[in-house]
Amino acid sequence: MIDDLWYKNGVIYCLSVGTYLDANGDGVGDFKGLLRRLDYLHGLGITAIWLMPFQPSPGKDDGYDISDHYGVDPRYGTLGDFVEFTHGCKQRGIRVIIDLVVNHTSDQHSWFKDARSSNDSAHRDWYVWSDTRPANANTGMVFPGVQKSTWTRDKEAGAWFFHRFYDFQPDLNTSNPHVQAEILKIMGFWIQLGVSGFRMDAVPFVIATKGAKVRKPVEQYDMLRSFREFLQWRQGDAIILAEANVLPETDMEYFGRDGDRMHMMFNFQVNQYLFYALASTDTRPLAKALAATKPRPATAQWGLFLRNHDELDLGRLTKPQRQAVFKAFGPDKNMQLYDRGIRRRLAPMLGGDRRRLELAYSLMCTLPGTPVIRYGDEIAMGDNLDLPERNCARTPMQWSTEPHAGFTEDDKAGSRVIDKGPYGYEHVNVAKQRRDPNSMLNWTERIIRMRKEVPEVGWGDFKVIAARDPAVLVIRYDWRNNSVLFVHNMHEQPREVSFATGLPGETGRLLVNLLSEDHSHADKRDRHTLMLEGYGYRWYRVGGLDYLFKRSDIDIDASGKAGHPA
Ligand code: NOJ
Repeated sequence: MIDDLWYKNGVIYCLSVGTYLDANGDGVGDFKGLLRRLDYLHGLGITAIWLMPFQPSPGKDDGYDISDHYGVDPRYGTLGDFVEFTHGCKQRGIRVIIDLVVNHTSDQHSWFKDARSSNDSAHRDWYVWSDTRPANANTGMVFPGVQKSTWTRDKEAGAWFFHRFYDFQPDLNTSNPHVQAEILKIMGFWIQLGVSGFRMDAVPFVIATKGAKVRKPVEQYDMLRSFREFLQWRQGDAIILAEANVLPETDMEYFGRDGDRMHMMFNFQVNQYLFYALASTDTRPLAKALAATKPRPATAQWGLFLRNHDELDLGRLTKPQRQAVFKAFGPDKNMQLYDRGIRRRLAPMLGGDRRRLELAYSLMCTLPGTPVIRYGDEIAMGDNLDLPERNCARTPMQWSTEPHAGFTEDDKAGSRVIDKGPYGYEHVNVAKQRRDPNSMLNWTERIIRMRKEVPEVGWGDFKVIAARDPAVLVIRYDWRNNSVLFVHNMHEQPREVSFATGLPGETGRLLVNLLSEDHSHADKRDRHTLMLEGYGYRWYRVGGLDYLFKRSDIDIDASGKAGHPA
């Protein structure tokens, strides 16, 4: 396979325009501001931006309640500003993917207004109705504790409507062919304006059967193929990155056995076990999660993330495992959310400990997939737990020690910038870290550069190597006659580990450290023995630095056959 699938070996950076940079001085970030910050992102080395919803919206779910899928919220700018932004990205070789929120709309959307206005309005069947209160109205809430029901009576419509999320987010009837056609039209529209794809919101719910009589929703996977077909017909290199927190058994249904459905999915399974490994120092369940999510088509890719704009969902862990993560990273009730997760940002979760932060980011960059970084994590930003629900981790980017962190010049904005405590902008900001060669920012920039130089992680086959110490994870990747190997110590204490690379001949005997001078030579029994400091990590190239001369043009699997190992 030709290796030009851009999403297989990039680094994605997730941001929302409203919290990045306010150029017009009204206290809200905007596209003009974001455009002016593209050189920063280019310097950081990221290859794609995932832009959170920016369309017109009442803003009751931070933009995930869209009231017009074909526009830009005036607070952020105009369609013209949006195109200037995508053009600016293109000039710098940065791709843009945007959120595609089509499971539901805002109740202020013209479609819903029309739908509720009469029983036989043109858009009535675009939503999901019931004349009476469905028996299961009290089940299936995504935001337990905040959301009371999944069905709400609408006075004007004289009927109940279904909403998987908040009651101001009526679900679209995605089985309706008119709705499906509209979804394609929305994709076609934004593709035309310069985006390279979509982060598709709530995919399992988009494709599920919906209705008052539906007891157990059934996923209509074929819809995924039709989305992809359309997209690739319009633009060959456009992708869909699915938000689908599903069990590994169904991963292949989402990717498509022939690689004909979603290009990418977030790896929620690995995300949860990664945090468990950090909390418990036991990497075995993480290794299991890696094995469970290993099968995927050659063209598919995982999105590997630590934190995002939502809570860290720990719903897949066992109760004791979840308790262990709560205890380590979110012990106060106020830090937890929806009975299943932690709402804090990464840096405060890890106690601001630089060694642990590097360990976590290093794992994110070296586990199978494409890393997805949350804005602000590159400078270890904190959170504001006084803000409700998930808003605590959505505060403005901290650029400098200027007023409001250099995010806005608007004094009355109440810009929600973090201005107190150790994560206040006077301490944590880009300008300060830029000047310090050892800052988190400069470390992140260097690790991103190195991550891009190990395409084996994005493209290759992987193997977890037995290190006989549960606190240490050793993982090797093979691709095109080259191998790289990574070692991570979850424990705060130093660990000595010994392992064999598992590669035959001289190659496996030399490990060249990519981040420092300490290389490793195997002993007579072909074993490497390393002394890792507490929370230590190593990135090695196996066999030496002549790897580019050795790289083959095609993929050869372990048995010598051509083809992709996955
Ligand atoms: C998932 C998004 O990540 C979340 O922020 C949002 O509230 C729901 N989908 C509803 O759109």
